[in-house]
Amino acid sequence: MRVVSVNTSPIREILYRGTSFRTGIFKTAVAGPVRLFTDHVEGDEQADRRVHGGVDMAAYAYPIEHYAFWQQEIARPALPFGQFGENLTISGLTEENARIGDILKLGSATVQVSEPRIPCFKLVARMEAGVDFSARFHKSRKLGFYLRVLEEGEVAAGDAISVVEVAEGSPTVAEFIAVSQFATRDLDALTRIQRARGLSAKWIATLQKHIDRAAPNAPAPAAAAPPGEEVVFAKSGLTVRWDDEARHLLGLAERAGLNPGFGCRSGSCGTCVCTVLAGEVEYTEPVEPSAAGTVLMCSARPRGGRLVLDL
Ligand code: FES
Repeated sequence: MRVVSVNTSPIREILYRGTSFRTGIFKTAVAGPVRLFTDHVEGDEQADRRVHGGVDMAAYAYPIEHYAFWQQEIARPALPFGQFGENLTISGLTEENARIGDILKLGSATVQVSEPRIPCFKLVARMEAGVDFSARFHKSRKLGFYLRVLEEGEVAAGDAISVVEVAEGSPTVAEFIAVSQFATRDLDALTRIQRARGLSAKWIATLQKHIDRAAPNAPAPAAAAPPGEEVVFAKSGLTVRWDDEARHLLGLAERAGLNPGFGCRSGSCGTCVCTVLAGEVEYTEPVEPSAAGTVLMCSARPRGGRLVLDL
């Protein structure tokens, strides 16, 4: 196992589908050793610290074994290192043999496998391989994984990767992806992966939402909210006022005590799709919208007036 390439990028402002946003996904290979800090990689910038960087996602690693698959899949003769936004292109360590919580030595740094990467629309902009690329990437399960830096140190292309401690009993990254993204009603499996070694508080909370939803005696929905700019969850018999703090329709539904299905919460996986019975929606992220007459609840809000959803 070894580090094939170390990749970093400054933040760029780009225009995608009429929306401009800042991103650090355009990573390129750098020569020489680079320091892994506890919350980022030297010379690398993250535009959105909610989903990149920080102690639980200090560095993103992607297996070179997947490059051939994607070259064929999107008909590209070659893909440069860093193409998927990864800080470290690695070989010999994939989602199949890395466990959440494994401790590794890279160069002089000690790191821990922390969680899979969940793609967002920025990957679509980066790849230029179709507006559905994020969904295809998600579906492939070839997501790569983040590393937590336990001891800062330097790493360079060619450095060996050695296992300091195997997280025995903890799920592999592949198992974690399979359950957290594709089996979110399997109560036993959810409970098992929630016990993954060193799992972040964010993931524990996300899995708990799935567990609560999958539990046989899920709590009853809250009472209806007062009238106003409103969203009607028709099947549930609930009418609630739109609240910006909910951020999206999925959040609004959860605040109302409902348990709609979700996966990525970033407009990629399609799990939260819901039929719109009346009214209009607008997307708050430049995601690829779902089919006409439906909405990805995790990335949209009502567009004025009364919105009726088949939920
Ligand atoms: S598209 Fe994945 S949860 Fe909304």
